Amino acid sequence: MQLTVDYRAINARETYALRHQILRPHQTLADCAYPLDDEATSYHVGAWLEQDLIGVGSLLQEAQDGTTDTNSWRIRGMAVSDTARGLGVGGHILQALIDYASRQEKPGTIWCNGRTTVQGFYEHFGFVQHGPIFNLPAIGPHVLLIKTIPGNGI
Ligand SMILES: CC(C)(COP(=O)(O)OP(=O)(O)OC[C@H]1O[C@@H](n2cnc3c(N)ncnc32)[C@H](O)[C@@H]1OP(=O)(O)O)[C@@H](O)C(=O)NCCC(=O)NCCS
Repeated sequence: MQLTVDYRAINARETYALRHQILRPHQTLADCAYPLDDEATSYHVGAWLEQDLIGVGSLLQEAQDGTTDTNSWRIRGMAVSDTARGLGVGGHILQALIDYASRQEKPGTIWCNGRTTVQGFYEHFGFVQHGPIFNLPAIGPHVLLIKTIPGNGI
């Protein structure tokens, strides 16, 4: 099926409903806000099918857990409505986030704590597993996935 989807930057608040519905239904809407959501460096992308927001993803300038290097970009809140999955929407959002990080003056690495259920999705875009699988309470098994941004000299 071919979808005519409009991808554009949105604000953090617009992501909350899909984050809640798809990623954190066991929590409140307020719990779906991430600490760095409203930072000037943060970037949120939404996929719109006419008036409906069918996908979201966020990029936050954030050091990897346990480190202090802030030349590091974190992917969070990747979520596509279940009726729109497998059609390229999530991939388009993820690529837009990667492209945004790559355009920064000093690109570094992009990372996420990815659910093992969708590890293959991130690997499809060049992310590589680092370390063992770990469990996030009430959410499930995750793995650290890292992608080096092309052009950063590494
Ligand atoms: C993960 C998610 C955002 C992917 O979005 P999507 O729109 O279904 O993905 P796409 O159709 O754009 O897939 C892009 C590519 O990744 C691949 N892919 C997607 N999900 C995959 C998976 N679970 N395992 C392996 N490959 C996968 C697709 O085959 C596609 O490859 P292709 O271009 O060769 O066809 C979506 O499945 C989702 O919202 N899942 C539930 C929430 C979730 O787990 N979010 C991630 C939290 S870390």
